Amino acid sequence: MKFIVDQQVEDIEMPENLKLNTFLKEFHSVCPHSECSFGLYGFAFGQSPFPVPLLMQEALMKNANQGAYAPVPGIPELRNAISKYNKHYFGMDIAPERIYVGPGTKELIFNLLQILHGTVILPTPAWLGYLPQIRLLKKNYHMLPSNTNKKISPIDLKKLSLRLQDRQKILILNNPNNPTGLLHNRLELEEIADVCREQNITVISDEIYAQTTYDFSKFVSMGKIYPEGTFITNGLSKSHAAGGYRLGYVIFPQHAVDLKRQFKKILATEYTAVSTPIQYAAVAGFEISKEIDIYFDATRSIHQIMGEYTYNALSAIEGIKATKPDATFYLLADFNAFATELQKVKINTSQKLSEALIVHPYHTAIVGGDSLVLERTDFSARIAYVDYNGTKVLQNYFDNKPKTSSERIEFVKNNAPKVVAGIEMICTFFKNLRKESLNDLQTQKKKKFDDRLNSA
Ligand SMILES: Cc1ncc(COP(=O)(O)O)c(C=O)c1O
Repeated sequence: MKFIVDQQVEDIEMPENLKLNTFLKEFHSVCPHSECSFGLYGFAFGQSPFPVPLLMQEALMKNANQGAYAPVPGIPELRNAISKYNKHYFGMDIAPERIYVGPGTKELIFNLLQILHGTVILPTPAWLGYLPQIRLLKKNYHMLPSNTNKKISPIDLKKLSLRLQDRQKILILNNPNNPTGLLHNRLELEEIADVCREQNITVISDEIYAQTTYDFSKFVSMGKIYPEGTFITNGLSKSHAAGGYRLGYVIFPQHAVDLKRQFKKILATEYTAVSTPIQYAAVAGFEISKEIDIYFDATRSIHQIMGEYTYNALSAIEGIKATKPDATFYLLADFNAFATELQKVKINTSQKLSEALIVHPYHTAIVGGDSLVLERTDFSARIAYVDYNGTKVLQNYFDNKPKTSSERIEFVKNNAPKVVAGIEMICTFFKNLRKESLNDLQTQKKKKFDDRLNSA
């Protein structure tokens, strides 16, 4: 029997980060070179390496007997805990009734895009999860390329919005940002909000990395600045290193009563409710406690230390530019200064660049620009600096917190040798490329000289 798949499903590709990690493992497992036994360097997969906070693990075990379905928007204890969490950390008064819990923010963003009519404005570079969802839902969309600082330009947003005919427009704001690691500050958000108000743009503010902001006092939620038009999404995946728990939440704008009713319908139709034991574990994660606070402080400091190292090591190579992350565990590296050299060796697209780094002797996975919704020929890539044993590193951090900048560098060298060696590998790749290109040039010059001599 032959099964026919709907065309919009055929058009969706498997996310490149997952594909690349599989390729990397396959190539490395058959590599015959003994010098490669050190291992492979995984900068592609964006997962927090830390253990799930113990409080949550214990709550999950304690509630393993909760076999009943939960209410569609989430159990009341969890909606209350999320409300208090938002007050404590983000300074927002959110009534629990405005909070809906779902199986991960990815699903909730998909559900929001399902119920909200309108054209989607997608700032780029972007997290690789949004575009396949937009395509699957057959929504109209427009890219909004970032300004030279790799942030959203309010002027460009307004220009684009003026061109769009739709009654409603939806901006996907991801702050702090994956892949750049950059944070839009209060002023920048206010400027974006001014345009949104004027142009009647609804915002889906994906704030899944909020808690990882290195200087946490700098994080401001768009929900505070544009409360009437912002849907905030957040969850357990990054802040609590619990992506596998699959739990996220959305906060609805204050006066969206009818919309909540529509949303509830969709959730009930698609998945009924999030697993009940997981919701109880999430209560422990969102309740204010000293233990969770210490966990947040330590994990965001370690991300910052790793980010500083990665940024400095990459920027030290002439031609490589990188965003200096304010949050997350990513940065965006720009290799476009090497475009001529890359093209000479037939690397014409960012995907080819990712593939070239996977094979011997590099064994390194990065996420290339076209998966970040950049032009195929843009040689930029996302580097996720999380290739280390988070449980051990967290313990080492508590035992001996690095204070000075040299202690921080030592900390990375001792605790994340794969990150150090992997960044060196990327640098070696580009140094080799430059060397090859120089040799090529010298050979060409010599040939020209010889030709002239022979014809003289
Ligand atoms: C920007 C961004 N949004 C959403 C998600 C998905 O989060 P969740 O695990 O809650 O579905 C990710 C995960 O990588 C992400 O990077």
